[in-house]
Amino acid sequence: MPLLPDVRHLFDLPEDVAYLNCAFMGPLPTVAVEAGWSGLARKLRPWTISPDDFTVPVDQLRGRFAALLGVPDDADGVAITPSVSYGVATAASNLTLQPGQVAVVLHQQFPSDVYGWQALAERHGGALHVVAPPADGDWTSALLADLDALGDRVGLVSAPPCHWIDGAAVDLVPVGAAARAVGAALCVDVCQSLGALPFDMAAVQPDVVIGATYKWLLGPYSVGFLWVAPHLRGGVPIEHGWTGRANSHCLACLADYTEEYQPGARRYDVGEVANFALVPAALASASLVASWDAHAVAAHAATITDRIAAGATELGLQVAPAHLRSPHLMGIRLGAGVDTEALAPALADRGVHVSVRGDAVRVSAHAFNSLDDAERLLAALAEVLRGPGS
Ligand SMILES: Cc1ncc(COP(=O)(O)O)c(C=O)c1O
Repeated sequence: MPLLPDVRHLFDLPEDVAYLNCAFMGPLPTVAVEAGWSGLARKLRPWTISPDDFTVPVDQLRGRFAALLGVPDDADGVAITPSVSYGVATAASNLTLQPGQVAVVLHQQFPSDVYGWQALAERHGGALHVVAPPADGDWTSALLADLDALGDRVGLVSAPPCHWIDGAAVDLVPVGAAARAVGAALCVDVCQSLGALPFDMAAVQPDVVIGATYKWLLGPYSVGFLWVAPHLRGGVPIEHGWTGRANSHCLACLADYTEEYQPGARRYDVGEVANFALVPAALASASLVASWDAHAVAAHAATITDRIAAGATELGLQVAPAHLRSPHLMGIRLGAGVDTEALAPALADRGVHVSVRGDAVRVSAHAFNSLDDAERLLAALAEVLRGPGS
């Protein structure tokens, strides 16, 4: 420490707040709030809005997401969406399963993935296969074992780089290879990782990558992205707006209907994609995050997470071993007798913000956190768990 320059002053984070909760919602940097306000204010004077305003900032945002995904030359592969569920729905309407095939998900995977892939499986006479939680916490081995057992019954694998509930790590490189070996599509939800964990597109070789900006990319709510591999760029969008069509740069020609689309994944963009308030805010946030070295952010987060893990263990609580957890996101299992519902508010009363998911306190560390935040969490946890009067 410090592995990164101090970036806390770029946010509105008071001294007495330890915000360890990007897994719930990342804070907007002040530069993004300013960009969002100015963007919203463009409509005070709509006559200043030009045709380029519908495309240029959106393409810049596409480019920023491509860079964050490790494919800076592939902005064409990125569509702008409002949510992960929108990305899943778009991908699902362009993928097929054979009757009897399964879409594989993890136990307690995020619902925006599960519902969409379940609908796809049912549409094609298939089913969902849920990988059971591994007793030893090793999701990669559990997922690989199921893929091996199911063989070519697998039509699709939906997996994140880490579990959203407790940050348990999933190594997507062997998972990608196993999916390819049986001809299954690999769809990756990076909502709980991109921005704090580097993503290696070339090593994973996914078919689809889906994310949202409001957590680790520190962006506004309701902006996300869908990257699709080249073989999925000629599909059918779930809505048929004008911006995805080939003639959309010419506002006067829009009634010259065309079958042609804009290049790449642009056809999958959400309607009214050029949201004048949200796009500039998302662009400012994504540009800030992209300006940090992703490996340094992960190492910075790991230092904080490791300190919390050691302190939690001293308090008699359980955490996954370092090799099975993510650097930025970790569940602390509370054990019997702890009122989990009451814990997060009790910590918040002490200025420490985390989430409780299931029986775990979910702690998440990003570039703006410090070891002071870790110490504040540990002190607050010790005090709350000791209970009143002790
Ligand atoms: C893994 C994961 N995916 C997606 C989302 C958000 O999904 P959506 O954008 O559909 O609301 C979350 C929110 O917590 C999440 O943890």
